[in-house]
Amino acid sequence: MEEVTFVGEALPFGERITLSDWNHRNVSVRKYFELHKDSIENIQEFWASKARELEWLSPWTKISEPGAHPHVTRWFPGGRINISHLCLDRHVSGKRRNKLSLIWEGEPRDEKGGPMEVRKYTYYELLTEVNRVAYAFRNELGLKRGDKAALYMPMIPELPIFLLALARLGVVFTAVFSGFSAENLALRIKDLGARTILTADGFYRRGKVIKLKETVDGAVSLSATVESVVVVKRAGLDVHMTEGRDHWLHDLLEGAPSSPEIQPEPVESDSPLYVLYTSGTTGGPKGIIHDHGGYATLLHTTMKEVFDMKDEDVYYCTADIGWVTGHSYIVFGPLLVGATTIMYEGTPDYPAPDTWWAIIERYGVSIFYTTPTGTRMLMKFGDDPVKKHDLSTLRLIHSVGEPINPSAWRWLYDVVGQKRCPVGSTWWMTETGGIMISYAPGTHFVPMKPGANGPPLPGIDAEVVNEAGEPVSPGTKGFLVIKKPFPGMPSPPTGIWGDPERYAKVYFEKFPGKNYFYTGDYAVKDTDGYIWVAGRADEVLKVAGHRIGTYELESALVSHESVAEAAVVAGPDAVKGEVPIAFVVLKQGRDPTPELTLELKKWTKSKFGSIAEPSQLFFVSRLPKTRSGKIMRRLIKAVASGSPLGDVTTLEDEAAVDEVQNAYQDLKRAVERID
Ligand code: WTA
Repeated sequence: MEEVTFVGEALPFGERITLSDWNHRNVSVRKYFELHKDSIENIQEFWASKARELEWLSPWTKISEPGAHPHVTRWFPGGRINISHLCLDRHVSGKRRNKLSLIWEGEPRDEKGGPMEVRKYTYYELLTEVNRVAYAFRNELGLKRGDKAALYMPMIPELPIFLLALARLGVVFTAVFSGFSAENLALRIKDLGARTILTADGFYRRGKVIKLKETVDGAVSLSATVESVVVVKRAGLDVHMTEGRDHWLHDLLEGAPSSPEIQPEPVESDSPLYVLYTSGTTGGPKGIIHDHGGYATLLHTTMKEVFDMKDEDVYYCTADIGWVTGHSYIVFGPLLVGATTIMYEGTPDYPAPDTWWAIIERYGVSIFYTTPTGTRMLMKFGDDPVKKHDLSTLRLIHSVGEPINPSAWRWLYDVVGQKRCPVGSTWWMTETGGIMISYAPGTHFVPMKPGANGPPLPGIDAEVVNEAGEPVSPGTKGFLVIKKPFPGMPSPPTGIWGDPERYAKVYFEKFPGKNYFYTGDYAVKDTDGYIWVAGRADEVLKVAGHRIGTYELESALVSHESVAEAAVVAGPDAVKGEVPIAFVVLKQGRDPTPELTLELKKWTKSKFGSIAEPSQLFFVSRLPKTRSGKIMRRLIKAVASGSPLGDVTTLEDEAAVDEVQNAYQDLKRAVERID
């Protein structure tokens, strides 16, 4: 077995844990893979049977077929559907009409530490709100099918309400994480061609008010397409409203009837629902397109398989809706299966490190979906904040976003779940739309292994391959690929918004002739066929689970007048998993002062967004380069993480060794000086 570590911990490949309470679902690994093999051999029929569980407005004519561009697949073409209808109307016309759909808590706390604001919506009430907003968007702003909108919103109920209203009207939207800068927001507005922006005046974070509307104004001044801005009053801020362009939501809603009926647009199954921008190796962010029908099929299926969602459950996912996890598993997934979903405005450690546990106790949460970073952060406070609360309602826990190290898994399993709950690490990515590799306690539950992702889900043909695209032997690190198309994958018309060539190149050309979807991740498969995803194989960072391209941070740095060149690499961090470490070459005549270090850190933050300040920044006289001038990241990464460089002889092919050795020593000196 090759040595693989997560956050510095070696993996216990051999350990297995089985929960006898789940005997009705427990299956042997052999049995699971028999079922899995069958699902792959009959993959079309497998997904058709899942799609039949949804309510179609008109039936599809084919299960799947190639789209107009290479590697773009149309799922359920000919069928008409609307995800807003599936999430709302279907339940309102049935037994879930008066069931709670959404529970929201604001961040501000009272003297006793309890929430000052809670909002709860039954399915009926949520549909009414969505219809009122859809009415206002249509009648007041003229939004209609095929239009584009961008959201820059905090975690308040209006965010899911807006997503469902836009989906209902057939308006294609992009939600932008509220920690991104104005420039980053403008980039996304421009790429999508958004004509309407939805935002709030501000929101609460760690007891402070964070302004949003100002950032939107900055972004809109850089965008030519924007005609209207809708602002939710959340923080009572006195914001500037541009006459004719900006509208308070409450003013727009004044003209709406109390309970209008807005029929969901019967859109084609493979027409775009949303575009979500995510970072890649080079260039700007990629706008990943997700459709209505395929995406809904994958989410509906995984909510049952992975989360075992039942009508009695209360479900809490701690993600932010600005990222894909929130789209899929706070909003659309849970509502598709008629669950009660919780959203919380603030952070887990404010005002005390028991906010999550208090929420679980207050609402009797039974299913909890969280992150390794959040878990590691709260572990630092010990077991007492958890033990203060009655968490006996919990029955299932999963994590997402980055590899989970065995001790964080143990803590979730022993302390939070009291050795009673399945604990999983669900692997997926923005591009896949939903979970691909995970235990499936809802259907066929195999023994758990601390730190593993588990076997691929039924209908997902995942494999770990070498550079030639051939499966590697168990225990050997390779590249994670998905060999067959699946519903939820990037959708028509172009996979990446406006750039079908990039879509084909980034995801399908690494293994020529194979048609494999390349994930960009390293993984190891063990002798049982379980997959352990070990991190990115490309120049993408996972900082506290947030996906950030090193290229984007380098662009931000070199846009500063003092910077000639910059390289950003991942450094290890015991809580966040990875943090950005920057190496900067200054322009002639600029002094490498501590003030400049601070200024450049702040600069990166203002250019990119609050999530991406370099944790360390070193001034160096040169960066190690190959003969063709490419920055040698392997070498820089080795210095940044303090790991040995390994075999330097191969460097000879790439560069003049003396040059590289000099640059290497220079980097090391810079790092040691600061340490
Ligand atoms: C990583 C987040 C290990 C992986 C849903 C992937 C994981 C990237 C896991 C996608 C996991 C996500 N174990 N690694 N359970 N989940 N990843 O697009 O590197 O923000 O490629 O989607 O996160 O990040 P994204």
